[in-house]
Amino acid sequence: SPLHEFLQRLPKCEHHMHLEGALAPSLLFELAQRNNIALPKDDDAFASPESLIARYKRFTSLDDFLHYYYIGMSVLINTSDFEALAWSYFTHAHRSGVVHAELFFDPQAHTTRGIPYSTVLSGFIAACNRANHELGITTELITCFLRHLPIPDSLALFEDPDVQESYRRGDVRGIGIDSTEVGYQPERFKELYDRAKGMGLRRTAHAGEEGPVGYIANALETLDVERIDHGIQLIDNPELMKKVTAKGTLLTICPLSNVVLKCVAGINDVPIKRFLEGGVRFSINSDDPAYFGGYILENYCKVQEAFGLGLREWEVICRNGIEGSWCEDSRKREMF
Ligand code: HPA
Ligand code: ZN
Repeated sequence: SPLHEFLQRLPKCEHHMHLEGALAPSLLFELAQRNNIALPKDDDAFASPESLIARYKRFTSLDDFLHYYYIGMSVLINTSDFEALAWSYFTHAHRSGVVHAELFFDPQAHTTRGIPYSTVLSGFIAACNRANHELGITTELITCFLRHLPIPDSLALFEDPDVQESYRRGDVRGIGIDSTEVGYQPERFKELYDRAKGMGLRRTAHAGEEGPVGYIANALETLDVERIDHGIQLIDNPELMKKVTAKGTLLTICPLSNVVLKCVAGINDVPIKRFLEGGVRFSINSDDPAYFGGYILENYCKVQEAFGLGLREWEVICRNGIEGSWCEDSRKREMF
């Protein structure tokens, strides 16, 4: 449709995409075989890529998804695996019209399996360089720390010499927190965020996805984050919404993810219109595209189908996406 073409051509910045969440079942099975990784035999979902895809359509919650997410990434062993994964994301992103991508990865989900941080990072960097040269996509990487693991583990990884070097070299631009939300308040990570800020790193946090709006307030106050990932529960607190609007904090919204993980009843309940009307800045993102049935363009299309936005509204969304990016100002000017 002409609208599809219009949405494809918009200069998109992606701010909320977990590289491990771009692992399509076909590549998952291919790497499991090549790397001799046994998939669970007591779960019929792992019988074939098709049955796994069918299971992904029936997620009941964030944790139900995370169970499959962590099993899936267990097939990633070698640098070439991480490079192939990220490259598969970039080919989709290019087709979707992504011009700049700031990508999360979960180092602890690999180091706890005995995969060195340097293996993970070098694969991702190789794909980022290729995306830049061959597709013209600029990139930044963001290390996410897992909320369900003990805080000392996060601090230890942050201080790991290889991790510190990746921040100093600029290979990794910032930090975030992800994984299970409810019961794991943002303030627990204050020490980590203070250290990151001290080093000049950019800071974001998943908050208000499944958890209550109080977690968003908590992340803003105690972690001094510049962005909030998801943040859809902000509609529950008009006062805080005004504060966030005044501050210009960017929410990285993931509509398909919210629907598939049952954080909202349907796409119409993602507060796109209310945020637009209230002046809350947000970008539209894919989160874990291989698990949620669509890349960034599918998210744009679903939003358009549900809300019928006008040209001016799409312009605002893309402009905020560019302005809320963590790249150089010179790159931002190119994207406008
Ligand atoms: N929320 C929490 N943890 C995650 C997500 C998410 O959207 N995606 C990957 N890990
Ligand atoms: Zn996420």
